[in-house]
Amino acid sequence: MVNSQRITSEQLRSRYWFDNPDHPGTTALCIERYLNYGITLDELTSGKPIIGICQSGSDLTPCNRHHIDLVKRVKDGIRAAGGVPFEFPMHPIHENVRRPTAALDRNLAYLGLVEVLHGYPLDGVVLTTGCDKTTPAALMAAATVNIPAIVLSGGPMLNGWRGAERVGSGTIIWELRKRLAAGDIDYAEFLSRASDSAPSIGHCNTMGTASTMNSMAEVLGMSLPGSAVIPAPYKERAMVSYDTGTRIVDMVWEDLRPLDILTREAFENAIVACSALGGSSNAPVHINGIARHAGITLDNDDWQRLGHEIPLLANVMPAGAFLCEEFYRAGGVPAILHELQTAGKLHGSALTVNGRSLGDNVQGRETQDPDVICRYNDSLVDHAGFLNLKGNLFDSALMKTSVISRDFRERFLNDPSDPDAFEGKVVVFDGSEDYHARIDDPALNIDAHTILVMRGAGPVGHPGGAEVVNMQPPEALIKQGIESLPCLGDGRQSGTSGSPSILNASPEAATGGGLALLESGDRLRVDLKRCKVQLLIDASELEARRERLAQQGGYRYPGHQTPWQEIQRSMVEPLDRGMTLIPAAQYRDVARQHPPR
Ligand code: FES
Ligand code: MG
Repeated sequence: MVNSQRITSEQLRSRYWFDNPDHPGTTALCIERYLNYGITLDELTSGKPIIGICQSGSDLTPCNRHHIDLVKRVKDGIRAAGGVPFEFPMHPIHENVRRPTAALDRNLAYLGLVEVLHGYPLDGVVLTTGCDKTTPAALMAAATVNIPAIVLSGGPMLNGWRGAERVGSGTIIWELRKRLAAGDIDYAEFLSRASDSAPSIGHCNTMGTASTMNSMAEVLGMSLPGSAVIPAPYKERAMVSYDTGTRIVDMVWEDLRPLDILTREAFENAIVACSALGGSSNAPVHINGIARHAGITLDNDDWQRLGHEIPLLANVMPAGAFLCEEFYRAGGVPAILHELQTAGKLHGSALTVNGRSLGDNVQGRETQDPDVICRYNDSLVDHAGFLNLKGNLFDSALMKTSVISRDFRERFLNDPSDPDAFEGKVVVFDGSEDYHARIDDPALNIDAHTILVMRGAGPVGHPGGAEVVNMQPPEALIKQGIESLPCLGDGRQSGTSGSPSILNASPEAATGGGLALLESGDRLRVDLKRCKVQLLIDASELEARRERLAQQGGYRYPGHQTPWQEIQRSMVEPLDRGMTLIPAAQYRDVARQHPPR
């Protein structure tokens, strides 16, 4: 239920800065400098809510750049509802370009946003999101600070096309790399075809990490219903920006805060919806991380327990055939939630930013196109959620089962005595440079039954955790028509990849995880039914390897390149625990517990 006890203007947080007669000097200093660009004394002192707008768009973050225009409508909405908008920047995070990886900046942007929300005269905030890590960074900060907050996605790009063929962002790159390796296309055609996937402003038009995480924000109840996947150029995108602006002002008066919304029920809804969406394998990392900051324990066992049985309903790349423009027209996130609600799989009473329950919001929002958003009982794939695999090398690793291809099933899951298990000889790589240097070396003897292993790619081994586990087979195999091999690793993979890798293995090699003990030529057994991955050697041999590694000083990984890399590596949790900063997760509701000093 929404808090019916509306607060008074005397209770606004911003009064501490702008109406504090006990400290006339500091109050005057706060006020006078905002006047210098034309804000009036009346706006600052007459009891209007001061609303921050966290601007995540910039020339460096093109996926979110559209927010530079959208923010005008957000401000219109805030003013129409009686608030005063203050726009400020978020640390840029661009998934494709940031090196060594954009995930390194999720926690950095989070820290910066926490300080801004805590330390400035803001009564509420609009969090503009889009590209992959901008959404979790914003939600994590909202949970920590807990001032009224609402998420506004910038929306996906329009569909990409090549002739009559859909071209999905990210997903096309994985396909083209194989075509290039097989010699079917040259570099110029590679670039030309890749650019077909990005026809307009907006973030990735596939159900990659960006569309997944913005959908998750809506499912969690943190953005207006139906807003997550409105394509960036559509007029509805500007309209919902205005509505978001008006709504945040009411949320301040209602004292409706993130921790009222980010409950255990909301996170369980997110897990269920992520399976139905065929969402990114990065979602468990981010959702578990947001939950930690909200004070809720969520782990990969929860993902399997709640999510694995859920069928795939969204026929969107990489798990399906369409793109987000069609997904929006078919009903978007509300239509997915409607199916899940009808099937009894949702906590419909979970509260959302519009003050209504998730269940109420999706009443009557049936799919408009069952080819794109399927009915629950006529789904694309049964049991489409993640499996949480364990064994003698790691405590947790995820496998996205919705993308296991027929070819993969026939080659690896074809043991009549145990159709869910396969064995293979491993070839081990230490980071992506090692992989690129050696993958085509014939001496590795990689064949159709090899399991490729990537280690040194977790948040410590490769600062932020690298999206490199979905490794392409050697060119020679691709030319023979073998386009994928099972992959396992302690890093992540792109949300736009359709590879059924075993990824996010935690703990990682760099922090004492068992992948560090693996040697090329070892045999692994993967048993999907029992969720087990076992290295097939004696326990005594494994122990001897562990001792040898300890004597050598542990698993080696490259040194730090920047201060932040060193800081994050010294205090980051493993991927299964959300890759959060250990000290940060202890801070909660800081806006109320610690009046700004
Ligand atoms: Fe930014 Fe995909 S690269 S959304
Ligand atoms: Mg990525």
